[in-house]
Amino acid sequence: MRHNYSFESALAASSRVNWKVEDIIGGDKKLDFTKPFMPKSLAQVNEISFLTPVEKIKLNQIRGYEYLSMFALVEEFILPYVVDHASRQLSGDDYRARALLGFAGEEAKHIYLFKRFRQEFEECFGVRCDFIGPAEEVTKFVLSHSALGVAITILHIEWMTLRHYIESVRDDQNLDPQFKSLLKNHWLEESQHTKLDTLMVESLVEKASPSEIDKAFEEYADIGMFLDNGITQQAELNVESFMRATRRKLSSIEREEMTKALVKGMRWTYLGTGMTHPNFLSTVEAIKPEARRQIERMAPAFC
Ligand SMILES: [Fe+2]
Ligand SMILES: [Fe+2]
Repeated sequence: MRHNYSFESALAASSRVNWKVEDIIGGDKKLDFTKPFMPKSLAQVNEISFLTPVEKIKLNQIRGYEYLSMFALVEEFILPYVVDHASRQLSGDDYRARALLGFAGEEAKHIYLFKRFRQEFEECFGVRCDFIGPAEEVTKFVLSHSALGVAITILHIEWMTLRHYIESVRDDQNLDPQFKSLLKNHWLEESQHTKLDTLMVESLVEKASPSEIDKAFEEYADIGMFLDNGITQQAELNVESFMRATRRKLSSIEREEMTKALVKGMRWTYLGTGMTHPNFLSTVEAIKPEARRQIERMAPAFC
């Protein structure tokens, strides 16, 4: 991939951003439960034929809770991964060490940010929403793969986060302002992470043999399938949360329609938006052109 990313410029941009969790949530900064939390193109609940407008907002908010939980989950494995990568690169380049440690610090802050929003949600939503896990098992599974396989997966997640904000959130004036501010502030820091992760991937590729590169792309696909399996389970949990929140008992046909819509929305949110991002694909192509073609062949199932 042709780019002008550097540790020095990412570090400079990161120090200009530098927000605090307390600036975004807590005190009088509360979620407004009369508004949707997730943008339409990610939530994909408006297409469900039998829901009233109020029920659509409830289901949208349940997807919002799932989004907070999913990011809290992925940040749990990104943090130790980046700390490990940074600890191997502490000498030689001052900008690199500081930029990578800053990257890890921001991800630790994001874990807290998502946790705080989840707490606010749980206090005010009225019923329990469930989420797949446990996070420790997911972290253990993901980190059992090679460093390059995990770095490619993280690169997918970073570009996916950027796309969520730029394409779906930024111009949506109907969203709850607090939830929108979470997505904006997360995006501001993830913008540096996309660049730092690209540099991390490139440094690992330099040292990798062709068979290690092949293995890394197989692992990226395996981790994606693992996540897709989680998405199928989460769709069921979201349906249960919806029935608790609305006290509505769905018929089997309604349940099937809702589950299908939720799986489609989640696949696009967490898989499709990352694997078809042009910058993700151009990094993949620079490493192995055939891997890009393979990802492009798989993508329609998640878009
Ligand atoms: Fe993050
Ligand atoms: Fe990140």
